[in-house]
Amino acid sequence: MTRRAVVRGVGHYLPERLVPNHEFEDSLDTTDEWIRSRTGIERRHFVTDGQGTSDLAVRAARAALQSAELSAQDVDAIVLATSTADLTFPSAATMVQAQLGMTRGFAFDVQAVCAGFIYALANANALIVSGQANRVMVIGAESFSRIMDWTDRSTCVLFGDGAGAILIEGREGEGNSDDRGILSMDLNSDGRFRDILYVDGGVATGSIGHLRMQGKEVFRHAVEKLVSTARTAVSRIGLNEGDIDWIVPHQANLRIIKATSQRLGHSLDDVIVTVQDHGNTSAASIPLALSVGVNDGRIRKGDLVVTEAIGGGLAWGAVVLRW
Ligand code: UT7
Repeated sequence: MTRRAVVRGVGHYLPERLVPNHEFEDSLDTTDEWIRSRTGIERRHFVTDGQGTSDLAVRAARAALQSAELSAQDVDAIVLATSTADLTFPSAATMVQAQLGMTRGFAFDVQAVCAGFIYALANANALIVSGQANRVMVIGAESFSRIMDWTDRSTCVLFGDGAGAILIEGREGEGNSDDRGILSMDLNSDGRFRDILYVDGGVATGSIGHLRMQGKEVFRHAVEKLVSTARTAVSRIGLNEGDIDWIVPHQANLRIIKATSQRLGHSLDDVIVTVQDHGNTSAASIPLALSVGVNDGRIRKGDLVVTEAIGGGLAWGAVVLRW
C-alpha cells in the first residue's frame, strides 16, 4: 500500500472588480487588440481598497471546504502559495487560519512566484505522505495589482488577482499510476535568471516595489522548460504524454499554453484555459483553472491531470495527479 494525497474538494474566488482590456486604452499606449492577440487576455479581476490576498484566500478555502463537505476543524494544515502576502509577516496562511476559525494544526506560506502552487502541492504531498498531516488545504492566492507599475504597458496589462484552493487528504493506494491522488512531480529553479522577472522592492529597499519583466526572455525559457518538466513528471510514474486527460497550465499567455500543449501532443481541447478571463494570477492561476474545470464538469474523478508552471527565480515544475 502507498499513501497518496487525494483531492477531496476544490474552490475559487475572484474579486468583484472586473477590468476589461479597453479600460487600459485611456491611460496607456495600448489596445484591446494588442493585448488579446499577444496574450489571449480579455479581462481580469482586481482587488478593491482594503481587500488583501488573505481575504481572497479565505473565500477560496471556504468554497473548497464546502465542496469537500468538511469544516475548518477537519483540516490539519494550510499551505498557501503567494508572492503578495498582506504583510511581510505573519504569513498570509496564518491569517487565513484565523479567519477560517481553525484553532489547531499549522499554516505557512510558500513563495515560488508563478510556480508557487506546484511547490505548495509538493510540500502538502510530503506532509501527507510522511504522516505529518492528513488533510491539507493548498491555496494559491495573489493580489498582483498591488505590485504593478501602472505606467509600464509591457507588464500592467498582463496580471490579475484571485485565489483558488484544493483540499487534499491521505488515502491508501496500490502504488501504481491507476491510484487517485498526487502521483509524481518535478521541481526546478535556477537563480541565475533572477533578473528577467523580479520585483524591485522589498525589505532591503523599504518599499514594496514593482514587478519588472523581460517578457521575451521569460517566454523563451517558458515553453522549453514547461515541456521538459511535464515530460519528466509524467515519465516518473511510468506514463507518457498520450495518457494525459487534462493539461492545467499556469495561465500567463495563450501563445505559451498553445505551444507547450502542442509539443506535448495535445490540442487546446485537452487544456483548461482561463487566461482570457483571469489574466496572469501567478500562484493562483492553476488552482483557479482546476476549480473552473471541475465546476464546469470537464475534469472528472479518475482523469489524469498534469499541472505545470514557471515564474520568477526562475522556478518551474509540474505535478501529475489522478483526480
Ligand atoms: O507568469 C510568469 C511567467 N511570465 C510569462 O510567461 C510571460 C512571458 N512573456 C510574454 O507573455 C510575452 O513576452 C509578452 C506578452 C510579455 C510580450 O509579448 P511579445 O510578443 O514578446 O512582445 P514584445 O515584448 O516583443 O513587444 C513587442 C512590441 C514592442 O514594441 P516594439 O519594440 O516592437 O516597437 C513593445 O514595446 O509590443 C510593444 N508592447 C505593447 N504594445 C501595445 C509591449 N506591451 C504593449 C502593450 N500594448 N501593452
